[in-house]
Amino acid sequence: MNRTRVVAALVAMCVLVAGGIAQVEAHGDVSPQPVDTTGLEPLGETWLEKNPYSGNEVAIKIGSSGYNQNCARCHGLEVISGGLAPDLRYLEKGETGDEWFMQRIRHGATINGVTKMPAFEGTLSQEAMWAIRAYIEAKHDDS
Ligand code: HEC
Repeated sequence: MNRTRVVAALVAMCVLVAGGIAQVEAHGDVSPQPVDTTGLEPLGETWLEKNPYSGNEVAIKIGSSGYNQNCARCHGLEVISGGLAPDLRYLEKGETGDEWFMQRIRHGATINGVTKMPAFEGTLSQEAMWAIRAYIEAKHDDS
């Protein structure tokens, strides 16, 4: 690792730690940010089971910003988890991963009455959710 990368890694760690502390203080109460999905084919009201934007470059770009605004504080910048929440690079590719992804992003995760992850249904459109999924899938790691 050269010096710049070490500094970048330290900065990323501080952001994650700060995010974690803010998270604990806020008792999981975070406000989701809307995502502008202009440029993506509209999907209508019915929830799809499979990502219609998988591999779509426009979706991946929109998803990257949607992810950074809504998910990175827990799941890590660039989808590299700092340990606060599962590392989404290892989420299965394709339809199996799509289903679990939608389950979580729509409904969130509440464990023993504590909101570990907020529900995004009602805040993020289906288009935004699948764009974020396309971004996460593009970051998939097989190792
Ligand atoms: C407040 C922190 C927080 C935020 C914000 C958050 N998550 Fe999570 N997420 C978690 C935690 C904690 C878990 C693990 C829940 C559990 O133990 O079942 C999780 C689980 C998941 C899972 C299941 C992973 C697995 O391996 O089972 C997916 C998919 C997911 N989150 C996607 C997202 C996406 C996409 C966003 C942004 C739209 C997001 N999360 C925002 C904390 C968060």
